[in-house]
Amino acid sequence: ASSASSASSASSPSSLLQPHHRHHHRCHLRLLNGQQWRGVSTSTAAAAPPSSSSGEEHGPLMLHPKFWQTLDDSGGPAHFWGEQARRHITWYHDFHTVQHHDTDRGIVSWFLGGILNASCASNCGRCNNVIPVVKPTNYSELHAHSANSQLHLKLAGVKQVSYSELHAQVCKLANVLKLAGVKKGDRVCLYMPMTPYVVYAMLACARIGAVHSVVFAGFSATSLRSRILDAGCKVVITADEAVRGGKRIPLRQTVADALASDGCADLVSTVLVQRRTGVEGGLRAGDIDLIDAMAKERPYCEPEMLFSEEPLFMLYTSGSTGQPKGLVHSTAGYMTQAAVTHRAIFDYQPGDVYACVADVGWITGHSYVVYGPLANGATTLLFESIPTYPDSGRYWEMVERYGINQFFTTPTAIRRLMKDADEFVTKYDRSSLRVLGSAGEPLNPEAWKWYHNVVGDGRCDIIDSWWQTETGAPMLAPLVGTNNHKPGAAMQPFFGITPAILNDDVRSAVLRACVYRNPSMARTIHGDHERYTSTYWGVYPGYYFTGDGARRDEDGHLWITGRVDDVINVSGHRMGTAEIESALLEHGGVAEAAVVGYPHDVKGQGVYAYVILKAGERVTAETADELKAAVRRSIGGLAVPDVIQITPDLPKTRSGKIMRRILRKIAANQYDDLGDVTTLSNPEAVTAIIDDHKAIH
Ligand code: WT7
Repeated sequence: ASSASSASSASSPSSLLQPHHRHHHRCHLRLLNGQQWRGVSTSTAAAAPPSSSSGEEHGPLMLHPKFWQTLDDSGGPAHFWGEQARRHITWYHDFHTVQHHDTDRGIVSWFLGGILNASCASNCGRCNNVIPVVKPTNYSELHAHSANSQLHLKLAGVKQVSYSELHAQVCKLANVLKLAGVKKGDRVCLYMPMTPYVVYAMLACARIGAVHSVVFAGFSATSLRSRILDAGCKVVITADEAVRGGKRIPLRQTVADALASDGCADLVSTVLVQRRTGVEGGLRAGDIDLIDAMAKERPYCEPEMLFSEEPLFMLYTSGSTGQPKGLVHSTAGYMTQAAVTHRAIFDYQPGDVYACVADVGWITGHSYVVYGPLANGATTLLFESIPTYPDSGRYWEMVERYGINQFFTTPTAIRRLMKDADEFVTKYDRSSLRVLGSAGEPLNPEAWKWYHNVVGDGRCDIIDSWWQTETGAPMLAPLVGTNNHKPGAAMQPFFGITPAILNDDVRSAVLRACVYRNPSMARTIHGDHERYTSTYWGVYPGYYFTGDGARRDEDGHLWITGRVDDVINVSGHRMGTAEIESALLEHGGVAEAAVVGYPHDVKGQGVYAYVILKAGERVTAETADELKAAVRRSIGGLAVPDVIQITPDLPKTRSGKIMRRILRKIAANQYDDLGDVTTLSNPEAVTAIIDDHKAIH
């Protein structure tokens, strides 16, 4: 039977959406509220999933378009989120409507009528509590390299910030921003190191209703410029230098390079500079010294009253085509989900020390270094360095020193650290650890086992959470305290999340991960709502399309199988292959470039570039380095190709499209599995590329 016919024989279409996770919702709601779930999921018959056309015995959940339908929003998830929002967020004014959606027009809204401010009260800065909140990295790594002994004394040791100090600093910085003319709705670019000042800056923006756009301080001047321009930022906050892994990174210089274009220089009226290292010449003419300016301000700033749907921040991420997308997150929906997930997914309990070592340049840093932990009054740690400096014991030394209870990192870091001797881990006391988190890419079973057995001594929960910049918070994650974790799978939806695995064609083997409504979804792409609507809501009407493939196993657990578009994930950094290709074309000698991801044992995916040089262009010993430099200049170090294969030709369809599918297989050494190449206009190109590939490896 085809999927279509077996699906049509199922008792009710909506039952197909979620039979596999009904149980978790129920026990979860009991856990959190002592109440029962009354939604679509319990009212449906336990329908067997339709058998799949791909012939798997326990087929993935597949829906034919004619069964897409809107869920009943009067109960279930909406009810759950409404309760959570009232429980975890401090409102100046309660909301009157939990949610309203018109996804055909890309309209997503939650908690309508509510008024709040993310920087206030239990929303990130209880002014009267003296809970140490921000524990930045050990500044001692600075002294080894600092010629300035006075600075050394000032910075040696660990800085701790109490909630009351956080509150005062946020207010002072907010007053500095106001003085610089920043108003509600204005965008402010943050290009900063991981110190408390970046947290002050984010919350200061939130306090006055400005929208922060954090750009990871590893991006190049060109990337920074395009993000400043796209967002229309009139103010940039940066530091003289960043310090990472014992190296100094000249942030102010990069900002200067970014502003060195007419458009950008005209747009940006103010550059605020945090003196991080105090390097001579760190500030330029016209700059405002951030720390000095804050010292002159009073430690109180009236918070702006914001409606739920007003934006809290924007954050750029890569799509498969074109410019990076500036995703805009809402105030109330995002805050609610960040707060609830920080508690429930990572089992945060009052008094715990929570450490997410992500940089705030990524969504993980927004949700689990800043907004989630601070909304819950937690102690959160800021990590400024790299996991291998001064040696591979860095994380575990921190765990011992601070008594960390929840530790959250990336698969890439785990794979890198497991290459070194276990003693780097075992010589430190890790008995405080309860939960070990991972996100950003699949946590492959080998890495999962090392994390579990060596780091967690076999007794901690490994929480592999699947989510995206767009979703703001995890959609899938195993439940703490259950013993059914499966290495490599994020497994099951979080409470209030309704995933669906959909295909647009019953014969298609590619199944896409989609998600039904939830509060922390990004609301738009800055300046391009049309792109937002069509990319995310236009593929499967009514559902948010993630861009990932997925499958469901015999137990009903979900596995993410990777991107189904031209996006690659290198060390947990998301990049469009098109961006890297156009960076390569910036090198004048390149005629054509095709970039694909390939399996890399530490990075997850490496960057493999096939490059055709222009006629007359000679390959020299420097060619590869020049091409890499072009990518570093235009995007940043994280996008630099691991392998560059200069090739005379690329496989193309008759209509002239590069067949990346074939290039991906070759890069992964899967020569025997190329599929049909007879439809190519130049099948001989494939043989030549394979021969060269073999020669490289
Ligand atoms: C893409 C999103 C997690 C937030 C930071 C990255 C991949 C993310 C997992 C996971 C398998 C994962 C997906 C997703 N991804 N987490 N646990 N298992 N894949 O956010 O930069 O927006 O990247 O990362 O492909 O689409 P992002």
